[in-house]
Amino acid sequence: MQTSRRTFLGNMAASAVAAPFLTPSRVWSAAPQADAHLENPFVGASFYRNVDYVASVKAAADLQGGTLGKQMRQVANYPTFVWLDSIAAVNGTNGYPRSLAGHLDQALEQGANAIGIVIYNLPNRDGSALASNGELLIAQKGLSRYKSEYIDAIFNTIKQPKYGKLRIVMVIEPDSLPNLVTNLSFAKVKEAKTSGAYVQGVQYAVGTLRSISNTYAYIDVAHAAWLGWASNFKPFVDLLKEVGTDIPGGNSKVDGFISNTSNYNPFVEPYLTADQQIKGQSVRSLPGWYDSNDFIDEQSYATALRNALIKGSGAYSTSVGLLLDTSRNGWGGPNRPTGPSPSTDLGEFVRATTIDKRIHKGNWGNQNGAGIGARPVANPAANYHAFVWVKPPGESDGSSSLIPTGPDNPSGKGFDPMCDPKYQGNSLNGNNLTGAMPNAPVAGRWFQAQFAQLVQNAFPAFEPAEK
Ligand code: BGC
Repeated sequence: MQTSRRTFLGNMAASAVAAPFLTPSRVWSAAPQADAHLENPFVGASFYRNVDYVASVKAAADLQGGTLGKQMRQVANYPTFVWLDSIAAVNGTNGYPRSLAGHLDQALEQGANAIGIVIYNLPNRDGSALASNGELLIAQKGLSRYKSEYIDAIFNTIKQPKYGKLRIVMVIEPDSLPNLVTNLSFAKVKEAKTSGAYVQGVQYAVGTLRSISNTYAYIDVAHAAWLGWASNFKPFVDLLKEVGTDIPGGNSKVDGFISNTSNYNPFVEPYLTADQQIKGQSVRSLPGWYDSNDFIDEQSYATALRNALIKGSGAYSTSVGLLLDTSRNGWGGPNRPTGPSPSTDLGEFVRATTIDKRIHKGNWGNQNGAGIGARPVANPAANYHAFVWVKPPGESDGSSSLIPTGPDNPSGKGFDPMCDPKYQGNSLNGNNLTGAMPNAPVAGRWFQAQFAQLVQNAFPAFEPAEK
């Protein structure tokens, strides 16, 4: 059943242009036909609430009880994306509660006119980390299996006429193309680069799935704290243009780009700017934090990226829009600053003023202190198609110690020390502690303690009385 959603127009800087996703009754009377390809599929959209995620949230709320339990329950009112993280996820086998077709049927049953899915199964997936390693390997015909057993299976499902009026919004392969820019020292990424498997896989995915008019493709572009430096940014722009040129049907098949998928980076830092000077030193110069990054938050990064992508040779259409995953970038709760620090010491000023309270911007595993961010909404800011919840809040980023393949790790996920709170770090996080929460289950599994914290530290906060 649909319930009405609260939006957060009053709390947003850009509230004037923001529009909520609509309730189904309004959609059917007012929205354009979903089978025509729209420039922004979020306008007039009523997104599917993943029934299995909703069940997890309700069980978590029941287990918690009290005021926090009531706040938790509200999370079920917002749409999250369905992750197709293996061939079995498409087919609903091997312990997945339902197939892709099962989700699409549920979406129709809910009266939704849109669904978000994540395409996430390239061969040598997650080649620079270990927590979300995939099932396919390039060396074992992974690219051809990706095409025939995964992408074609998705295509054969979604092309059915009964789904023709659902806007199918796809996030394309988180972390894959970004890895090709910075992580070639990892053997699996290097192989992805030399074989062309990531590039060809993304091109095949977009070309195939976007040959249907009611699908929408948003390519993952990592986040500011990964690719914000010019030395990474420029090669990434070139790579995205190169990828776009050889997509069957051309780069107009790409509807936009998404940043911060499953990450924790703020949309804007409300109380400081990159070039602000503290005793003659710019905020962005702070060693060990921004490290002279050109961008200190997602809006500045993604906007600059979009601007670069719609210019010059291989340019994308000016109709491309941005998405931001706001599922865990709220940084509310008691430690959220309410204004700039009075300190005149650069380090003290920045650390006391940023809402991002991570130990290091390279930390990514189950971050302690994080909170749910802005609610999903269409047109939140210039050139943004929407804020979305791609990573379902409460699902782990990876286990904090090795969990052997078995009932608690059916797909054989690896252990990445970046999810271990005791790990002292490496060059990717400036040799800092990881800031991960302890006792985490494997990636994708329900993590009750993290969900509790994400709800407690949500920004905007969940009012206990909200429905
Ligand atoms: C995991 C996936 C999971 C997704 C959403 C990823 O990190 O590897 O298995 O579906 O997160 O929670």
